[in-house]
Amino acid sequence: MIKANYFNDAPILMPEDDKFGIDRFVQALSRSIRDLDSPIGATIALNGPWGSGKSSALNLIRHHLEPDVENGKIQLIDFRCWCFRGEEALTLAFLQELNTALGKNLSDKAKMLIPQLGKTLLQAGPVVGPAINLATGGI
Ligand SMILES: Nc1ncnc2c1ncn2[C@@H]1O[C@H](COP(=O)(O)OP(=O)(O)OP(=O)(O)O)[C@@H](O)[C@H]1O
Ligand SMILES: [Mg+2]
Repeated sequence: MIKANYFNDAPILMPEDDKFGIDRFVQALSRSIRDLDSPIGATIALNGPWGSGKSSALNLIRHHLEPDVENGKIQLIDFRCWCFRGEEALTLAFLQELNTALGKNLSDKAKMLIPQLGKTLLQAGPVVGPAINLATGGI
């Protein structure tokens, strides 16, 4: 007999759902993220074939970082890049998302930089509407 959740393809959410033993790796990754020096930027890419457990790993990272999110040390922002096509559209959408999410917590210097980036993109690319929004702060 087929189990009711046989066709459930949803990523796992909690360490207790981990059947492939990825949680130790995920915990180490979460610690590395927590210990990143601020304000130095860093990029971490999680690569894997289709259905290999990338979203599940992200969910577990989110779970392990929850205490830091609650005490305000870390802010998590979801940016779904596959909704946008083209370099400028992607960059603008990312900056808008960042500005919207972090707006009130950004330093004055960063607040100046984001509209400036919008202006640069406005001169460089065809994505006029969102670039004007970003450049003028009209988000
Ligand atoms: N550690 C795990 N323990 C149990 N089930 C898992 C684990 N990792 C992934 N799965 C299961 O495998 C399936 C695919 O996982 P997931 O959606 O996380 O993969 P993905 O790499 O994000 O897939 P896609 O390439 O489609 O985005 C889901 O049903 C998920 O519940
Ligand atoms: Mg996925």
